[in-house]
Amino acid sequence: MLKKTTTTGTAAVAGTGRGGAVISSTTTLLLIATFLSILLLTTYPTPKSTYHSLYTSLSFSDNTTISQNLFTLTRRPHVAGTPANADTATYVLSTLSSYSLNSHITSYQVSLTYPLSRTLTLRRPPPYDTSTTFNLHQEIYADDPYADVAGEVLPSFHAYAKSGTAVGQVVYVNYGRVEDYDTLKAMGVNVSGTVALARYGKIYRGDIIRQAYEAGAVGVVVFSDAKDFGGGGNEGARYFPDDKWMPPSGVQVGSVYGGAGDPTTPGWTSTSDCERLSVDEVEMLGDVPLIPSLPVSAADGDAIIRSIGGQVAKDDWQGGMNAPVYRVGPGPGFLNLSYTGNQVVSTIHNVFAVIEGAEEPDRFVLLGNHRDAWTFGAVDPNSGTAALLEVARRLGKLMKRGWRPRRTIIFCNWDAEEYGLVGSTEWVEENREMLASRVVAYLNVDCAVSAAGFHASATPQLDELLKQAAQQVQDPDNSSQTVYDSWISSDDPKIGRLGGGGSDYAPFLQHVGVPSVDMSYGGEYPVYHSMYDDFIWMKKFGDPMFHRHVAVASIWGLVALGLADEEFLPFNYLSYAQELQESAKEFEDKVSSKVISLVPLYKSIDKLEKAAIKINNHIKEIKERRVWPSFWKRNHLEVRELNDRLMMAERAFTDRDGLLGRSWYKHLIYGPSKNNDYGSKSFPGIDDAIEKAKILNSVESWHSVQHEIWRVARVVTDASLVLGGVLT
Ligand SMILES: *[C@@H]1O[C@H](CO)[C@@H](O)[C@H](O)[C@H]1NC(C)=O
Ligand SMILES: *[C@@H]1O[C@H](CO)[C@@H](O)[C@H](O)[C@H]1NC(C)=O
Ligand SMILES: *[C@@H]1O[C@H](CO)[C@@H](O)[C@H](O)[C@H]1NC(C)=O
Ligand SMILES: *[C@@H]1O[C@H](CO)[C@@H](O)[C@H](O)[C@H]1NC(C)=O
Repeated sequence: MLKKTTTTGTAAVAGTGRGGAVISSTTTLLLIATFLSILLLTTYPTPKSTYHSLYTSLSFSDNTTISQNLFTLTRRPHVAGTPANADTATYVLSTLSSYSLNSHITSYQVSLTYPLSRTLTLRRPPPYDTSTTFNLHQEIYADDPYADVAGEVLPSFHAYAKSGTAVGQVVYVNYGRVEDYDTLKAMGVNVSGTVALARYGKIYRGDIIRQAYEAGAVGVVVFSDAKDFGGGGNEGARYFPDDKWMPPSGVQVGSVYGGAGDPTTPGWTSTSDCERLSVDEVEMLGDVPLIPSLPVSAADGDAIIRSIGGQVAKDDWQGGMNAPVYRVGPGPGFLNLSYTGNQVVSTIHNVFAVIEGAEEPDRFVLLGNHRDAWTFGAVDPNSGTAALLEVARRLGKLMKRGWRPRRTIIFCNWDAEEYGLVGSTEWVEENREMLASRVVAYLNVDCAVSAAGFHASATPQLDELLKQAAQQVQDPDNSSQTVYDSWISSDDPKIGRLGGGGSDYAPFLQHVGVPSVDMSYGGEYPVYHSMYDDFIWMKKFGDPMFHRHVAVASIWGLVALGLADEEFLPFNYLSYAQELQESAKEFEDKVSSKVISLVPLYKSIDKLEKAAIKINNHIKEIKERRVWPSFWKRNHLEVRELNDRLMMAERAFTDRDGLLGRSWYKHLIYGPSKNNDYGSKSFPGIDDAIEKAKILNSVESWHSVQHEIWRVARVVTDASLVLGGVLT
């Protein structure tokens, strides 16, 4: 088996002249050839850079394997905790094993919810006096090849929604943001006791529900507006399968939980016999909604909008070309929403493959992607799973050619991400101390591809490495340039930051302080979390040739190889200091009229900058000592000590107490904003304190802004001490 794969592997790579031994049929010749090549390999080890260029050249024709893996993974809906998703775990495990990687599954027992019953009725009082009970059903499409398993798609619901009934007049609340409720208040609209109708799009859906609750609503209906998801809602607009847009019956399902990990085991590992909080205790923590909610389609949202009278909503609250005039209400339309969820302890499966490092096996580079999907998951998340398997396949080939990484590489395939980063968080909580002392970086890909256009976010010490990787990969949409070329010429060429809680990097970065990356091709896409996120959509609209998948796999693997193989970790903290400087400046306007000083923060950033310059110079100086014989006499402990400082400096940005009122989030530089879990914020603690102070405008509230500035300044100073490597 091993041998057969080796031969195929060699053949797939353009001729390198090593096939000579295979031509001969005599065992003796083969033995001599093998002996000679072993001798050659041990005398002159192949430089790592040769393997790295080989890694990129291995990409030719890989689109077939990627497409096949995606097709198999998305054959059926596979929600976390279901037998169908246990099957995808088995598939990923056996595929990784077939690439000769050591693979295993780690399972957890976690509390997940599934829909038991839902009803939504709209009454319009006299003179209309009509009543509509919505069927809440997503329709199969013409020639839908998945019609046979459409019945396995879960009824549309919000995971961890409150069970119960909400009855009241409807109020239209736009995107359900804090500022939308401010607008309603200014219009004199009282939301208290009503059922809020919000549209998806600007903030995390869990925050839509929480803000509605805080405004006094008793229930929430969230719809996908054709303006945002249906191609503008223009007359004659086409939608899937004829165009990429969401069909009128399409519903975006998803979680409304605001925390990370199993809500019944906050901060500790979910096993079959562990301590668990009761439903009441979970509700007291404030991360699950306290009023029921349901997601609905564009068509149902439109019907509800038409039942709302009262003042006309502002221009930017209106719908698409063909939509009725949106009014805010309340009523006269009257909604009766009832939802019952079934909360059960289910088994989830994380799949891992490990390539042990030859020189530093106790230093880990992690590549992660989740596998569970709300429906078929062609974009979200299995485009990423197919890319992960592709990286694994290529590294398996490099190993057959004699490569071993310097540090250990671990492939992680998470379960139950959709419910609230559950699989990754439970694993991080179980292995926290080991991860904190050994992980070099965590590289995440959730949706690998939904459209053209490369996007990446990272902690800033990784910026340079990301750019270098993108420079080595051909642009899948224009063969005469690299991904980097198209990236820098795009509208949004910046490297994003990882403040939002949107994917599995959150436990690594925001809880433990591991340098992280997240990347994708494309961004938001119309059929997100609906039953139309299937292989046909991907093939027609997301990535018809699967070349974007190949590009993601190439960049992902090159970043991993850089981190796993370079003698000195390719981290540049100078970019971190510069980035912090820019983020700090953004606060200047916000606090200018107050007696708030940003000086402590600027001083700490200064120290970080100096420490970064110093360690960069130190490493440069050691690298220049490459003259024989001192090169051979390089002190490995000295190298290791410098690398440890680079690795641990990010940990120093975490604080034992974490963000105020959200103590699981330990990182004081990057974390989700309080009012929008998707929002990427720098210094979320300072930001939250400013938002609060703007409302209260008291001496104490502005004092706590200053306190948060001091806290950040202290962790930045800590990071500079770690980089410097000397005790005070
Ligand atoms: C809003 O309505 C609720 C009950 O319907 C009432 O108790 C409350 O006083 C009202 N608020 C305002 C500001 O009118
Ligand atoms: C709302 O719907 C539920 C479930 O269908 C029903 O039991 C209840 O009577 C309804 N309430 C009103 C006020 O119509
Ligand atoms: C492809 O890339 C080349 C080189 O950057 C550029 O000149 C050309 O305009 C690009 N073509 C398209 C269709 O974008
Ligand atoms: C892979 O790419 C080639 C062109 O480079 C294309 O002809 C082929 O159809 C692609 N395969 C798949 C599965 O899309």
